[in-house]
Amino acid sequence: MKKVLTFITLLAVISACGGQGENSANEGNRVSANSKLKKTDDVTKGIGKFKDVELPPTLDQAKATAGEKIYEVKCQPCHKLTDVKLVGPGWLGVTERRKPEWILNFITNVDEMLSNDPVAMAQLEECLVRMPNQQLTDDDAFAVLEFMRKNDGVK
Ligand code: HEC
Repeated sequence: MKKVLTFITLLAVISACGGQGENSANEGNRVSANSKLKKTDDVTKGIGKFKDVELPPTLDQAKATAGEKIYEVKCQPCHKLTDVKLVGPGWLGVTERRKPEWILNFITNVDEMLSNDPVAMAQLEECLVRMPNQQLTDDDAFAVLEFMRKNDGVK
């Protein structure tokens, strides 16, 4: 158990997510997956129907508030609003490290993204938990994205 905890601590230092300590023998693979994540960061829009999304520079407050309600019910159990990992990565900075298209595709098409998108797959290798499909409509997804932007300081 102590060894597993050491691995978790180590992983928490090198990755945004950390793990459940199930497969500590595979630690090395996870590190190389992590470097793949860095290379593909910001260049992918993910897999799904959102191809080109233009967001206004200012925040839509009403949408962000709707997104916060969805967050509290469906996302909070696994995601903090800081950069601290819970089950999944903390959301602080997520709108800077991911394109809006990637976020929208990920949260509406999570199964396919976790199976085929290199960035999502690398993250799954770190987290070891498959994010469940949260059954968001497109409107829900845009609202949650707006709340993420608010959390990242968009006014
Ligand atoms: C049961 C836990 C769980 C719930 C509930 C959950 N997630 Fe996740 N989420 C994860 C995990 C774990 C990951 C990392 C990828 C993986 O391992 O599947 C993740 C990754 C993400 C990412 C990518 C973060 C990044 O830094 O790239 C986004 C965006 C996200 N989730 C959004 C949501 C939204 C929106 C909701 C609510 C509607 C939600 N999640 C609910 C576990 C969860």
